[in-house]
Order: sequence, then structure tokens, then C-alpha cells
Amino acid sequence: MTLPTSMNALILKEDGFGNTRTGSAIETLEPYLDYGILPVPKPGPGEVLIRVRMASVNPSDLYFIKGEYGQPRVKGAAAGFEGVGDVIDGNGLFARYLKGKRVAFAGAVNGSGAWAEYVVVQAATCVPVKKAMRDEDAAGHVVNPVTAWTMFDIVKQSKSKSFVFTAAFSQLGKLMAGLARDNGYAMIAIIRKQSQEAHLRELGAKHVLVQSDPDFDTKLAALMKSEKPRVLLDAVANQVSADIFSAMPARARWVVYGKLDTEAPALNEPGQLIFMNKKIEGFWLVNWFKRASMLEKLMTIRAVQNRFISGAWSTEVVATVKLEDAMRELPEALKLGDGKVMIKP
Ligand SMILES: NC(=O)c1ccc[n+]([C@@H]2O[C@H](COP(=O)([O-])OP(=O)(O)OC[C@H]3O[C@@H](n4cnc5c(N)ncnc54)[C@H](OP(=O)(O)O)[C@@H]3O)[C@@H](O)[C@H]2O)c1
Repeated sequence: MTLPTSMNALILKEDGFGNTRTGSAIETLEPYLDYGILPVPKPGPGEVLIRVRMASVNPSDLYFIKGEYGQPRVKGAAAGFEGVGDVIDGNGLFARYLKGKRVAFAGAVNGSGAWAEYVVVQAATCVPVKKAMRDEDAAGHVVNPVTAWTMFDIVKQSKSKSFVFTAAFSQLGKLMAGLARDNGYAMIAIIRKQSQEAHLRELGAKHVLVQSDPDFDTKLAALMKSEKPRVLLDAVANQVSADIFSAMPARARWVVYGKLDTEAPALNEPGQLIFMNKKIEGFWLVNWFKRASMLEKLMTIRAVQNRFISGAWSTEVVATVKLEDAMRELPEALKLGDGKVMIKP
């Protein structure tokens, strides 16, 4: 098959970091991206060229294009961290083994990105996808499901059979709800919209608290007594999060893994860090990938794929936007809420 020399892509307009802290909300893509043409990237040693089938849109992508994420932008490169596609070329033994296979990927190289027709990634980071897995599940297979699986280990290590989870109707929250129920843990899910409560309970959350409920504090305090959660898994990091942490029992850990709210929280009870042995820390999947052994990674990937194939997990997609329409349609699609948005070349 002859490869084209150029491709369509959503291209970053700026370099480095931005000086805003506006979060993942997007009104328009114009300041950050152009829809345009790039050369088809060439795989270097140990790399593969993938024809993208579908790419996911995660909050991290949105922070990144604005220059608000933990790694700098490269002007002129394609955006998009994660997706699924077919390996069509590669350099090196493993790369050649992957040729013709459908793979999930996260983290492109050589100025390429997932929001494009073609992407180059390191062969070693590709995850061959079993036939029975849907593209919708495979496109978001690495970042959120692996994060859910590894953060659930933090809960298991806490020696409490419960945990608190904010932004619980996120894809990650939905995955955690299933893991909690299937392993006999009580998830105390915190959400903003009452309309999401019933579905979250169906997915496995034992308790669901709506932030705007006038009895929120009383209900939370009662759950702290009855369930004694020791871990707060938090992607919001605002005052609600800080107050939940203050209400938690001794030895509680506040694990911040996202910053969905732009508010800077105040820690009203810092003495708890001293006298109640409470701790505040961060979690970033990138560090887990650096730290975990190859065996641990393979076992995690296999467990994650099996959960999707068995139907224990499913990616709830609210919209699929064509790459060529993304500049116009993506911001509106993201406002639909309650599920993932995908981009399809
Ligand atoms: N550290 C890591 O390694 C790592 C890995 C994966 C993901 N993450 C983080 O995990 C988080 C969830 O990712 P996802 O892909 O699962 O998200 P998602 O499916 O896109 O859902 C986003 C959720 O965030 C909620 N939200 C947005 N702004 C909020 C605010 N100010 N207060 C409370 N809730 C808010 C939304 O709630 P509504 O439904 O009420 O609108 C929605 O449920 C993100 O912050 C992402 O960056 C971190």
C-alpha cells in the first residue's frame, strides 16, 4: 500500500505553557488549534506509524492545548494524547511484530498526535487490542482505565473498605464504581447533578452525595462515621474537596489526581496533618508507568481489557465528531456532558 505524504490534523498554534488557569472548559478551539495539513510522520527506531481509527478527548487534552498541563506544547505538532488505530509501518523487531495489528496508544512522538489521520508512537508503549474490544473502549483504554485500576490499589492498601470519589460521573468515576462493587468496597461518590445519581448507583456506587444538597454536610459526616473511608480520590481540588478531607477520619489520604476546578482551596484544619496523621499527595499515571514493572503493566492491561470484553466496563460515548468538523463541533459536543466525546478521522 502506498502511503500518502500528507494528512489532516488538528495542529497546535502555540508553544510551551500558557499563563492562564481556566481548567478544561472550552468555548472555542480557535485560540489553540488549526485544522490543517501536516506531513505524515515517519517512525524512527523502535517506533510505529498508526492509522488512527478513533481518538478520545480527555480533560488532559483540553488543559494541554491551552498550555495548562504538566508538559509543554510544541507549536505545529498535532494535538491529542490517546486513541486506537492500525499499525501500518514500523522500525525494529517489536514494531514489525505489531504491523497489521489494532493497538491502543497514549503519548505520541516526533511532533505527532492522536487528533490526526496518522500518528507515530513508541512500539513499546502500544497495547495490542483483543478483537472483541470495541473501538470506543480501546480509544480510551490506556489513560482512564489504567488510572482507575492503579488508583484502586491505593484504596486496597488503605485497609478501609470504603473511599470517597469526587467528580464521580466522570469516565474514571464510572469505572471506579464498578470496581468498588465487584470487589466489595463502598464508594462514596460526590457529584454536582442529581440527575446522575441513579445511574451511578446502577454502575456500583454504594453512596451518592450531591454537592448542592442542603443536607450534604450532615450526610457526609454520617458516612464518615459508618464507613470510615481512609482515601479521598479527588480530581476537583476545590473547597468542597478540602472540606471533605477535613471531615474524614484520622490517617486519611487526600490523593489529588486532577484539577477540574480553578478555585484555590483553603485547608481549614492544617493541624490534622500533625495530630491525625492525615496526608495530602498527588497521583499521575505517567509516574506509575515509569515505576511499575513490565509484568505489573502487562497484568494491568490484560485485566483492563478483560473487564471491557466481559461487559463489566463500558465507555459511555455521548458524541463522535469527525476530525474535519472538530473545530466547529467539538466545543458543543463537550458541553453535552455525562459521557466521552471521540474524534474520528
Ligand atoms: N493524574 C492522572 O494520572 C490522571 C489520569 C486520568 C485522568 N485524570 C483526571 O481525571 C479527571 C477525570 O477524567 P475523565 O476523563 O474521567 O473525565 P470526563 O469523563 O471528561 O468527566 C469530567 C467530569 O468532571 C466533572 N467536573 C468538571 N468540572 C468540575 C468541577 N469544577 N467540579 C466538580 N466536577 C467537575 C464533570 O462533572 P459534571 O458531570 O457535573 O459536569 C464530569 O463528570 C480529569 O481531571 C483528568 O485530568 C488524571
